[in-house]
This record gives sequence, structure tokens and C-alpha cells, in this order.
Amino acid sequence: MKAQALVIAVSAFVISGVYAVSAQQPKSQWDGVYTEAQVTRGNEVYNSRCAQCHMADLSGGEPEEGIPAPALYDDAFEGRWNNKTMKDFADKIHLTMPADEPGVLTMQQSVDALAVILQRRKFPVGTTELPVDPAALGAIRYLTKK
Ligand code: HEC
Repeated sequence: MKAQALVIAVSAFVISGVYAVSAQQPKSQWDGVYTEAQVTRGNEVYNSRCAQCHMADLSGGEPEEGIPAPALYDDAFEGRWNNKTMKDFADKIHLTMPADEPGVLTMQQSVDALAVILQRRKFPVGTTELPVDPAALGAIRYLTKK
């Protein structure tokens, strides 16, 4: 009987531990949330629709023609995006980018472009695509620190 009680107590402890960890650590871009195939698609979008303002290395700056664009990795960027969801991020791209022609991208293209940003930022690649489904996309966070 004692042994059984111990097993139950240990199981309960382990299970509560697992829940505590998953509650503290939402899924984020540190967990490998996009794929290589998605980046291949997204590169076509990024290179033709984003790079002229944000640059290939995401550094932004002041192009000779067009609008100055922010870097997609500096402190100001982190301040705006830390702890937001990938849905917030993709919506920003979908609704307001490219800044000179907003509205031309589908949600799929916006999510693929976001995968390119994550890849060029050197966040880990995974085996599941960054989803288009709003609920699934909203369950993944952008976290400045792991
Ligand atoms: C014509 C220049 C231009 C193009 C092209 C462009 N952007 Fe932007 N982007 C901007 C400017 C200017 C801002 C800052 C104003 C704003 O946030 O709306 C910005 C802001 C952003 C932000 C938010 C940055 C922050 O620090 O909050 C993201 C993310 C972004 N762009 C992604 C993209 C993606 C992805 C593409 C391609 C699909 C793209 N942009 C194309 C000019 C551009």
C-alpha cells in the first residue's frame, strides 16, 4: 500500500511539474516552428517584396529611393514584439507590408515571409510549418529570450 501511495505521489509530482513547465514556457520561435520548404517559398516573397527596404540582412536603413525602414532585430524591434504572438506578427505583415503596397500578400505569403525573418535571425528550423490557422499561429509566441 505504501509503495502504491508513493507511486501515486511521485506521478502527481511529475505531472504537475510537466504542466508547470509548459505553463511557464509557451511555444515560441526557439522551438523550431518553421521549415526549410517554407523558407524556400518565403525567400521569393522576401527578396522581391521586402529586401529593398529591410535589406537582405534585415538591417533596414535609408534606401536611396523609397521609405526608411526599421531593422528587424534591434532593441526597438524587441521592445515592440517581445511576448507578442506569431499571429500579431503575421497580421502586421499581412495588413501593412510591403509599406509601399500593403494588402498585396496573402496570409500564406505573409507567414512564409515571417519564416524567412526567423531563419535569417538564426532561430532554429523545425519539421512543422509555421501555420496559417489563426488559433495555431496565435499559440506561438515571439520571445526575445528563451
Ligand atoms: C517600401 C519599404 C518597405 C517594404 C517594401 C517593406 N517594409 Fe516593412 N516596414 C517599412 C517601414 C517604413 C516600417 C515602419 C512602419 C511600420 O511599422 O508600419 C516597416 C515595418 C515592418 C515591420 C515591423 C518592424 C518593427 O520594428 O516593429 C515588419 C515585421 C516588417 N516591416 C516586415 C516586412 C516584410 C515581411 C516585408 C515584405 C513582405 C516588408 N516589411 C516590406 C518599410 C517597408
